Amino acid sequence: MDGNDGSAGTVSVRVNGEPVTLAAERGETLIESLRNAGHYEVKNGCDEGVCGSCNVLCDGELTRACLTPASRCDGADVTTVKGLLDDDNGLHALQEEFLEHGAAQCGFCIPGVLVAAYHLLQRTTDPSDAEIADALSGNVCRCTGYAQQIEAIRDAATRLDRAEPMEVER
Ligand code: FES
Ligand code: FES
Repeated sequence: MDGNDGSAGTVSVRVNGEPVTLAAERGETLIESLRNAGHYEVKNGCDEGVCGSCNVLCDGELTRACLTPASRCDGADVTTVKGLLDDDNGLHALQEEFLEHGAAQCGFCIPGVLVAAYHLLQRTTDPSDAEIADALSGNVCRCTGYAQQIEAIRDAATRLDRAEPMEVER
C-alpha cells in the first residue's frame, strides 16, 4: 500500500481531479480513507456492498467504496458525486433533474445513485427506462420508489444528448 512517494500507509489518488494523499492503514477501505480525508459526500449505508450509497468511480469503473481496499486505488482517478459539479460548482444536468422531479427525499442514497447514473450516461446517451432501472439495480432507496429517479435520469440524458457531449471524466 505504498503511496507514490513510497510512504507506507498512504495512497496517492486524484479525487475529482485534485491530487490527494489518503492515509490508509492496513485493510482500510476506500470509503474510510475518503471520509477521513473529508469526503463526507461518500455515504456509508450498509458497509457490506448492498446499498450502493458509497458508489464512486475508480478510473471510470463503478466501485463500491465500502468493499474496496484503499490500497487497490493507488494512482487512480476517483470521482465522487462532487465531481459531477462543473468548474463553477454548477449542478450537473442529473442533479438539476433530480431536483426538478423530486427524486430525492432524505437524500442519503443520492450520492451513490447519481454516480451510478453518471456512469450509465457515460456509456450510453439514450438509455431506455429498462437500462436506467438496470443501472440503478444496485442502489437501495427507501424513500422514492425509484420512479422519479428513472424519470430524472431519462430527462437528463435527453438534455445532455441535445447539448454538448458529456464532460470527459475527471
Ligand atoms: S455502503 Fe457500500 S454498498 Fe452500502
Ligand atoms: S431518498 Fe431517502 S433513501 Fe433514497
